[in-house]
Amino acid sequence: LSTTDVDLSAIKPGQAITVVWRGAPVFVRSRTAEEIASAQAVNLSELRDPQSDAIRVKNPQWLIVVGICTHLGCVPLGQKPTDPRGEWGGWFCPCHGSQYDTSGRIRKGPAPKNLAVPAYQFTSDTTVRIG
Ligand code: FES
Repeated sequence: LSTTDVDLSAIKPGQAITVVWRGAPVFVRSRTAEEIASAQAVNLSELRDPQSDAIRVKNPQWLIVVGICTHLGCVPLGQKPTDPRGEWGGWFCPCHGSQYDTSGRIRKGPAPKNLAVPAYQFTSDTTVRIG
């Protein structure tokens, strides 16, 4: 399938799920108000791959990123509330320790780039279509 439809209604704030799009994992995360605020407050000059949170999301509540570490392609942890999410509260890559923030931006470790943002659109209040 070239597109993947995701029902957002069961994803609680602070929770992230993994869906499959074109054979690749995609993380869909419902961010809490605190997570949104910390993603927006970052000084871009501190970032290895400077991108504002605003250009990485269409709706601040929902962060949607390809779940492939930009170092050597492992799948970072952070999908469930119980997973380690690293010092910036986003994702932690178990392979070589890269850490991503609540916007999926690389903050520490060997990965060179932020987690990629796939093409997607909201097709209703509770549904998103990836691809
Ligand atoms: Fe993620 Fe190396 S593959 S840190």
